[in-house]
Amino acid sequence: MIFIDINQEQIPALGLGTFGLTGQDCRTSVADAISLGYRHIDTAKMYENEQDVGSGIQDASVDRNDLFVTTKIWHTDLSHAGITAGLEDSLQKLQMDYVNLTLIHWPSSDMDLRECLDTLMELQQAGKTRLIGVSNFPSSLLKEAKALAPIVCNQVEYHPYLGQSAVLNVLSEHQMMLTAYCPIAKGEVLEDQYLINLGKKYGKSPTQITLRWLVQQENIAAIPKSGSSKRRASNFDIFDFSLTDEEIANIHALHQNRRLINPHFAPVWDN
Ligand SMILES: NC(=O)c1ccc[n+]([C@@H]2O[C@H](COP(=O)([O-])OP(=O)(O)OC[C@H]3O[C@@H](n4cnc5c(N)ncnc54)[C@H](OP(=O)(O)O)[C@@H]3O)[C@@H](O)[C@H]2O)c1
Repeated sequence: MIFIDINQEQIPALGLGTFGLTGQDCRTSVADAISLGYRHIDTAKMYENEQDVGSGIQDASVDRNDLFVTTKIWHTDLSHAGITAGLEDSLQKLQMDYVNLTLIHWPSSDMDLRECLDTLMELQQAGKTRLIGVSNFPSSLLKEAKALAPIVCNQVEYHPYLGQSAVLNVLSEHQMMLTAYCPIAKGEVLEDQYLINLGKKYGKSPTQITLRWLVQQENIAAIPKSGSSKRRASNFDIFDFSLTDEEIANIHALHQNRRLINPHFAPVWDN
């Protein structure tokens, strides 16, 4: 495993995404992922699976303190009362007294950013969340947020077809991390001829090449989701080889500004 060191937390660079997993399927997937070696689990209030994620963690025989758990506050809850109640509800469902990271899931045009971040800092002080951060923040808003609070992370869509250079520049300037969602472009990388050919060199799939490309970059975590034990195991099997600098650059060059997640309430993105 590769770890990202931020604010005295060791964050496993590969985690399990859980969007779309619910009920028993989610519970079994989380417990199975932990037995495969995953120690980083990503959830959110909006996924309506925190109870199942928490139960999966209970089923797994790993100390809670050895896990890195992220949850997120939905954009309609971005007030002092909404964030406080939202995180309390998440903790109850997760059956935990703290999460490792709490993110503002999406910025909202009518949020008071200072109030939101002050509230997250208050919850951090109270020990309910070890770290605080944001998700889906374009670079200018990210800079604004960083000036107001010790945020450590921006979780954004990032894969070979969406480069994120503006966000990455701000993150690296402030020693923050990026967590890549849709890291395998929802499976699109499987068809990529360059990634297929490169995979042949290492005996790896295009998915494994892509995940390796992500975690080999400094301060980048990736959270692929899979409901299949076989694919979860395969996604985790990326720590026995390294890509060369040239191969990493070639994968960056696949960028085509292709964004897969763009809801009507999304902010104005960087190009
Ligand atoms: N912050 C945000 O706004 C935001 C937005 C979107 C997602 N996320 C987070 O990021 C996580 C990952 O994103 P995502 O789920 O949208 O996309 P993803 O991880 O890029 O792709 C998931 C898709 O790829 C398939 N897959 C996974 N591993 C595979 C493999 N080895 N071979 C072939 N297919 C494979 C999965 O199917 P199977 O399940 O059938 O394997 C699923 O259909 C989410 O679960 C969520 O936790 C956050």
